[in-house]
Amino acid sequence: MSKELMQQNIEKAQREIDAKKEYVRKGKMRQHYHFMPQTGWLNDPNGLIFYKGKYHFFYQYNPYEGFWSCMHWGHAVSGDLVHWEYLPLALAPSESYDNHHQGGCFSGSAIEHDGKLFLMYTGTTNNGKGFEQSQCIAYSEDGIHFEKYKGNPVLTAPEGIPGDFFRDPKLWKHEDTYYVVCGANKDGMAQALLYKSQDMFHWEFVNILAESRGEWGYMWECPDFYPIGDKYVLMFSPMGAKERTSVYLVGDFDYQTGKFYYTVSGEIDWGFDYYAPQSFLSPDGRRIIVGWANAWDWMPFWKDWGPTYKEGWCGFFNLPREVVLCGDNTLQFLPVSELEQLRKDEQVQRNVTLEAENPLLFREGSVYEAKLKINLKESTAKKICMELRSSDEKKTLVVFDFEKAEISFDRSRADGWSKGTAKSPLNLLGKDYLDIHIFSDQSSVEMFSNHYQNNISCNIFAPETECGNYITAQGGKLSIELMETWDLEGVM
Ligand code: FRU
Repeated sequence: MSKELMQQNIEKAQREIDAKKEYVRKGKMRQHYHFMPQTGWLNDPNGLIFYKGKYHFFYQYNPYEGFWSCMHWGHAVSGDLVHWEYLPLALAPSESYDNHHQGGCFSGSAIEHDGKLFLMYTGTTNNGKGFEQSQCIAYSEDGIHFEKYKGNPVLTAPEGIPGDFFRDPKLWKHEDTYYVVCGANKDGMAQALLYKSQDMFHWEFVNILAESRGEWGYMWECPDFYPIGDKYVLMFSPMGAKERTSVYLVGDFDYQTGKFYYTVSGEIDWGFDYYAPQSFLSPDGRRIIVGWANAWDWMPFWKDWGPTYKEGWCGFFNLPREVVLCGDNTLQFLPVSELEQLRKDEQVQRNVTLEAENPLLFREGSVYEAKLKINLKESTAKKICMELRSSDEKKTLVVFDFEKAEISFDRSRADGWSKGTAKSPLNLLGKDYLDIHIFSDQSSVEMFSNHYQNNISCNIFAPETECGNYITAQGGKLSIELMETWDLEGVM
């Protein structure tokens, strides 16, 4: 019975998508190469996995409108992380534990077990006791059609953890044992709770993997825990840590006790639109993360989710990024090399010296990639100012301020809609070069710099006519050793 109910709800959602997708596809704000749904609302990446020869992306999805509600799991596959094929929705609300319209099938992850693709997700319901969240299992033989486990839920909130703060299970396997980490809140502090299982159905509490003492907020959404080199990384999206919204910690993990001892912390992305990243392994062993390119209303800088709901959709993922561990145990986040296949119309300039206050148009267009290598030793400039996606009145202003040691990304004049200035520290201690790597798509800019450690992703809704992209040196000259730019192919 319940299997049929989920199937009916998937088919109903699918009819809605089919009825709207042609209209939505023509939307002027649609992205050209960032992953997005055919219609409706998307938030977190879920269940990212390479399974039977394909990358699978699942996503938090509301097929009915361009706003959050009634969470389903959307599903798409790709051979190369660039070209995507949409599949039928994987999960729809259907059971007493996941069927509330202000709830549904919340975030979770995927793993291969027993020859099948297993999903663990958070069922969110309201049986009159507030929003209750529990961890549930669904599985599939073919990786397309899923069935919810009859014994769901497999994990409920432990004593002392409020029922509406227990979610977002991330699975992994170590030797013969499955592990899962879930986000939780206890006495106003965030926790990552660790469980283990032999069979994916029966779970036993191991320990509090790590917890906030207040510095990292009251709830960790979408925790993710994985090995890299001889270290472990815990990533999470904290609620209640002000502008810190995508944090990583690096340290050592003890499987005996289930405790994580971290020594390094950092921000994955300092922009306004990078949240809930989830990681997965590529077949060649790269650890790759994908984040949701938007924000929640409880964040201090939040204005709204952008104007794209007018076109019947909202939400896309940021570009897949490879995680690299550095010698000092900090992390770099590099756009995956698969993206290079999108490049066309290459322009290369070498050894360009910019005199102060003389703007240089480095690329015209809105869908492009640019890579700049700046020789700091030969530059005397105090600031680099970049005007991106600009026309006469509108512009997005990015400033690399060497004296303040800060990057700022001001979108308050970008499009008549967006607001705010995102900021990142700029640590050039002991460096001879500054690298800047920009991915501009129709409705967003992702900017990587300083060895892919100071990254800023922000959505802007600039029309195609805002297509000037300039760089200016201020307070001295700027020596650009290499400047490469490309237009990027549309694939979505
Ligand atoms: C994070 C989040 C998760 C939750 C999901 C609901 O963005 O709030 O904690 O599972 O979104 O859509």
